[in-house]
Amino acid sequence: MPALLLRQTASALRSQQLPDERATPFIKWVGGKASLLPELLKHVPGKLRRYHEPFVGGGALFFAVQPRRAILCDNNAELVIAYQQVRDNPYGVLDILAQHVYDQAHFTAVRALDPRALTEAGRAARFIYLNKTCFNGLWRVNRAGRFNVPIGRYKNPAFHNPTTVVRASNALRGTQVLHLPFEKSLEKTAPGDFVYLDPPYDPVSLTASFASYTASGFNFEDQKRLAWACTALNRRGVRFLLSNSATPRIRELYKAFEQRTVKAPRSINCKAGGRGHVDELLVFNA
Ligand SMILES: C[S@@+](CC[C@H](N)C(=O)[O-])C[C@H]1O[C@@H](n2cnc3c(N)ncnc32)[C@H](O)[C@@H]1O
Repeated sequence: MPALLLRQTASALRSQQLPDERATPFIKWVGGKASLLPELLKHVPGKLRRYHEPFVGGGALFFAVQPRRAILCDNNAELVIAYQQVRDNPYGVLDILAQHVYDQAHFTAVRALDPRALTEAGRAARFIYLNKTCFNGLWRVNRAGRFNVPIGRYKNPAFHNPTTVVRASNALRGTQVLHLPFEKSLEKTAPGDFVYLDPPYDPVSLTASFASYTASGFNFEDQKRLAWACTALNRRGVRFLLSNSATPRIRELYKAFEQRTVKAPRSINCKAGGRGHVDELLVFNA
């Protein structure tokens, strides 16, 4: 069934009923949490007023939970527009994705486009196309905010994937997706809400940092501000779960809260750039 669906055009899919399967992320994202889902899910309350992810990235936990009410935020504008368009205009995005091709010349031309000069659907399609065809799915921008990752080597990269996009669109219905820094998104929380925080990780060594999702990066001052924000959430009766690298200084920042160390396989990771298993820290307040 999926192979058949993939061969159909987005327009033909419009009249189809998709089999009732769960949505999954429509992009691959550095620091994506698919491998940690069983551990993360243990901490998501069965009953919650509203679900929040201030660092949504690929949204692995959001798609696994599929809460009825949610606010998803990120400070990567291209990512946020892609979510909004996948939610509101999935077939428009798919129609444009169907026109893209996987080759060096096309990749270079698409990468060079100024996203602000495109339609919102074109901008979302550019984001998904680059994410699926660039080296390792990295999203790295230079200081001027321009995407600068080279093309990756793939046999047949699935940048036009109607099943995934339509399922993601259904899961996002009724969800707010906002382009905000984490402090601003946390202002939207209320007692009874649940927040999953998955920031760019504290590097485990000086050479191992990957925190260039956006032009501004994420340094230890940001980690401290995030820890203060978690203390404020706790005081206001908001439940949270945070993942980060298990470095001594992150353990110290969150020493007032419950902590668990879990092992995660990583090919590229936010914190360590290496391969194999890494220790991850889960911090929570209930
Ligand atoms: C580790 S990734 C999240 C991965 C996500 N949990 C997943 O499953 O794919 C961190 C995200 O934080 C975003 N980010 C970085 N700095 C931020 C900030 N100051 N405020 C909000 N989002 C930020 C990045 O754009 C990135 O998408």
